[in-house]
Amino acid sequence: MDAYSIDSTDEFCNYAQKSGGVIEYKTIFENTNVSAMHATEVMHLPFDITNPYKTHTFLDRSYLSQHEGYISNIYIVKNLSAFFNGEYLKKIIKADTATFNVLINNYLKNYSTNYFQGAIKLDDINDFMIYILHKNAHSRVFGIISKHQSKATYLIEKLTQTFFLAPSSKYKAIEIIKKIIQDKKMNSYLHELSELIYLELQNQISLKFGSKNISILQLIKKSPQCLQGCDKLATTMSLLKIFRGMVIISPSRLTNILNDISLNPSVISILNTEQAEIITKYGTSVNIDTINKMSILHNFITNSLLSSSPASFLFRKLNKDITLSTGQVVKKNNIISFNIFGYYSKKRKYQQKNIEKSSTKARIVKSNIANKKKNKKHLDLLWGYGSNACPFYEYSLIQMKIIIICIIRTYDIYAHVHETNQVHPGYTNISTVVPKSSSIVLKLKKLDWVKTYNI
Ligand code: HEM
Repeated sequence: MDAYSIDSTDEFCNYAQKSGGVIEYKTIFENTNVSAMHATEVMHLPFDITNPYKTHTFLDRSYLSQHEGYISNIYIVKNLSAFFNGEYLKKIIKADTATFNVLINNYLKNYSTNYFQGAIKLDDINDFMIYILHKNAHSRVFGIISKHQSKATYLIEKLTQTFFLAPSSKYKAIEIIKKIIQDKKMNSYLHELSELIYLELQNQISLKFGSKNISILQLIKKSPQCLQGCDKLATTMSLLKIFRGMVIISPSRLTNILNDISLNPSVISILNTEQAEIITKYGTSVNIDTINKMSILHNFITNSLLSSSPASFLFRKLNKDITLSTGQVVKKNNIISFNIFGYYSKKRKYQQKNIEKSSTKARIVKSNIANKKKNKKHLDLLWGYGSNACPFYEYSLIQMKIIIICIIRTYDIYAHVHETNQVHPGYTNISTVVPKSSSIVLKLKKLDWVKTYNI
């Protein structure tokens, strides 16, 4: 099957279902895609047959994944994820909220020229999300690198680029030489950035941090023992990996959440009511306690994440032939991946048929596919599985909530200036599933929370 001929994610899944839930398709590699039904079989294969890290180095064209230290440094990233828990997490939430509020404002002021009837029309939500997440990731991971900020920013950007396999010459030798030159340049960038980071770690002057500018680098300064035994390069590569993680997946997931909110005006009204209740009881502060009380927001976001699950992800390059329960043999070196989208799109269609008469709130609260116990294992799959499941998943979910809270406390979100109900435009793409249309309309809230709730 030629993956490029497929325009909709549903079309891909229908094709997969007709083929018994296991399909082979070709992109730049041989891929076998299995449905949620077969996921468990693959998940239980021994680590050395489906070694994810070897797959990453095979598939990911970024300099970081190609670096010889990629696999041996993975434990450092996991150690650093401890900064996104407990007391540190509380500080990070505060800093994220302050930063996102500024960035949302900046983006809308500087990049949205599309005003219509007092509303801002954003043609590309994904661009909006990349802008705020990318700038926030700089602050949260590296913060301010004294005296060398612009040099450091330049090096971080260069080192986190992804290179596509696009040979521009038919002569292999020329391609090899180009690669050697490229690697040399990137190595020197990595060394330069490591020096700047090392200097910053030695610089005790900027130890004080305010609520808005907490960064992992500053936290490392406070607890240097967390990096015991790690050299400069390994530390820098790990910080870059976290930075990259922060900007790679979340924008498209948030695009889906914002699109889903926009489709039905009663959704924003229900989310507003929940925010009003929280603000009345606990004030305007966005913190772990108030976020945990927003159950409607939680259900809505989880539902949206599941509905836009990837149709092909968790890629694993097989180290041995395996046989699936269907009898199909998947050969060594083939890349196997999971289709979770198909499972949820079936659920979504079934529910739409059956709950059309119930209110939107009942749909969000009671019919939430994420609440069903039997969905639990697939829900977990959103963040991967086993020892290399996403080490940042709790923070990442909270971060997505913070962004939505920051937006909906200032703006109402609609798909259309006339605030009418719209049908979902359908999904496109296979790995990074996004809505076919990604525009929304933001209307400044008529409600002033502070005045209305006397805060
Ligand atoms: C703050 C944002 C995020 C950061 C810093 C981050 C970071 C990471 C890192 C470092 C890994 C690799 C773990 C390892 O190799 O052992 C990872 C894995 C993973 N992450 Fe995240 N992530 C973020 C957000 C997300 C989001 C929003 C999703 C999806 C909803 C997600 C889904 C996954 C999955 C599925 C894996 C496993 C990939 C595999 O096994 O091939 N992550 N993440």
